Amino acid sequence: MPVPGVSLGCDYNPEQWSPDVWREDAALMRRAGVDLVAVNIFGWSNLEPSPGEYRFDDLDEVIELLHAHGIKINLGTGTSSPPPWLSSRYPETLPVAADGTARFPGGRQAWCPSSTVFRDRALDLVGRVARRYGNHPALALWHVSNELGCHNALCYCEASTDAFRSWLRARYRKIETLNEAWGTSFWSQRYSDWSEIQTPRLALSLRNPAQLVDFQRFSSDELLGYYRAEADLLRKHSTVPVTTNFMVTAHIRNLDYWSWAPEMDVIANDHYLDHRLGDPVAELSFAADLTRGLAGGRPWMLMEQAAGAVNWQPHNVTKAPGEMIRNSLTHVARGADSVCFFQWRASAQGAEKFHSALLPHAGTDTVAWREVLKLSETLDRIGEVAGTEVESDVALLFSWESWWSSEGEARPSQAVTYLDQVHSAHGTLRELGVTTDVVAPGADLSRYKLVVVPGLYMISDTDAQAITDYVSGGGRLVVTYFSGIVDERDRIRLGGYPGAFRDVLGVLAEEFGPLLPGAEVALSNGATGTLWTERLRTTTASVVATFQDGPMAGIPAITRNQHGAGTAWYVATKTDMSEILREAADVVSDKSGKTEIVRRRGDGRSYLFVINHGTEPVDHPTRGCDLVTGERVDGVLTVQGGGVAVVREEDS
Ligand code: GAL
Ligand code: ZN
Repeated sequence: MPVPGVSLGCDYNPEQWSPDVWREDAALMRRAGVDLVAVNIFGWSNLEPSPGEYRFDDLDEVIELLHAHGIKINLGTGTSSPPPWLSSRYPETLPVAADGTARFPGGRQAWCPSSTVFRDRALDLVGRVARRYGNHPALALWHVSNELGCHNALCYCEASTDAFRSWLRARYRKIETLNEAWGTSFWSQRYSDWSEIQTPRLALSLRNPAQLVDFQRFSSDELLGYYRAEADLLRKHSTVPVTTNFMVTAHIRNLDYWSWAPEMDVIANDHYLDHRLGDPVAELSFAADLTRGLAGGRPWMLMEQAAGAVNWQPHNVTKAPGEMIRNSLTHVARGADSVCFFQWRASAQGAEKFHSALLPHAGTDTVAWREVLKLSETLDRIGEVAGTEVESDVALLFSWESWWSSEGEARPSQAVTYLDQVHSAHGTLRELGVTTDVVAPGADLSRYKLVVVPGLYMISDTDAQAITDYVSGGGRLVVTYFSGIVDERDRIRLGGYPGAFRDVLGVLAEEFGPLLPGAEVALSNGATGTLWTERLRTTTASVVATFQDGPMAGIPAITRNQHGAGTAWYVATKTDMSEILREAADVVSDKSGKTEIVRRRGDGRSYLFVINHGTEPVDHPTRGCDLVTGERVDGVLTVQGGGVAVVREEDS
């Protein structure tokens, strides 16, 4: 980690303020105990105000000022948004949308990931920044660009089309292999030459799904290549760790971070509560678990979150006192060793002037500021948890490729979404008090007592075999509907669904029976099912519950199979899975409901996080010292409604 302990940090955009404000900011940052500050994220037009004219004095001054206040720097390379002169001189750097129209500058990130003109100009700037600051004593971390692909991940311009063709040539070598992989005998789509291939721009009818998924893969790789170019250059001039901020969140899906993660020196994520979702805090927990998965179980950084409201949702709900601290500690409980915010001081101008910040428009005599001081104190008190790892013996498989491919244009039901399946499995485990590791298909599963596979539509033979072997060897597996349907070419696995998992689950489905939104079917276990049914039969499995009515009345809905030394459940509808997961995870404790219970361990010590998101007090058995209050806990910990506790446990 760039800074010891559990650090507090923020983005800082001094370009928006005058030097007297910078001095006030540095003093207030010190007062708030800010350890790490990200600067120069949107610095390009300040550093290079006109082509080839460089000005570093402002950034020099800000860095020296922060350094003099004992604050470490998380230095942006400054390339996330090019200045207007770049696109006026080189309009070909502008991204092109799926309808073939260019996207204009005037917002941010208006650049094509495949543009060599953009890349050359950006790398020129990165080289200058790296040479100037690469050995500065305050420099703790490099921050490449910003949220790569947030807006510009999919570009359909000529340069991107050329790059897509090269990517496809490298992947398939022969045009015939591509034809086969894309199933181009369908609708007369056969290619005779690479030059005929386009990016999947909007078409008159449904597009080729295999082409779409390859375009997603290409687009993720293309931006990763861009990251690598900046990172390589930084590493030439500096030994400071390099990263970029991921967007592991519900509304962004264009980057396959499993392939990005190995190239980061430290994993960093940006996370904002999304009030468009049913349970925003449950999604936060999921995102934190997935970020930890990307970090291979090691500590990671929360690079951005909001102190209060954001400005980009339809209704920007603020946080009640205590809420920001609970959310921050939820990230820490799940492996974050650094809690950073967007941004330090709330902007007075620009598109984000209604976004909250550590220092609000109203200044320091505010509830929001006092919350920041309280968070800072709390992070100091729990500093010793840094470096420890989260304890978990349940894994959930997550795949961006499945996300992309399962939500194609033509599918059995538009109401079935990947994240809904993932969130409901993860959320159910969380409510049972189970901490879940989120891992990639193909990960080593041997240390888990349960593996959950929600809606994993696309899976390769090798990854499917690893799951089957895990069960044969004694593992427990829960698979939910619309899993194992296609291989990595998006080709249906023939012979009955769920193709890849038929044997391990001991079932075979002849036909899908999606339900209309709002329709419900009764299950024989007293629960209900929505969205999905299947004409399912068992081969070796036993039936746990059947559909009682609806299109598949009398047909199995939930099954359980002995496979080798292990057990595998299949759930063929959207239903409450708490009973199955409780049995499969072998959970004894009562539902923890709205309380987050997570343990971090390391160096022979263990820390129990109990975060009460509800309004009623909760009790939890433990013994030790609550680092948040400094009080001893002798057998039973009581956490008040809205409260948090981090207990350094004894005898564990
Ligand atoms: C992130 C971004 C920040 C800021 C923030 C607002 O996407 O990295 O620069 O825009 O969102 O929530
Ligand atoms: Zn492009």
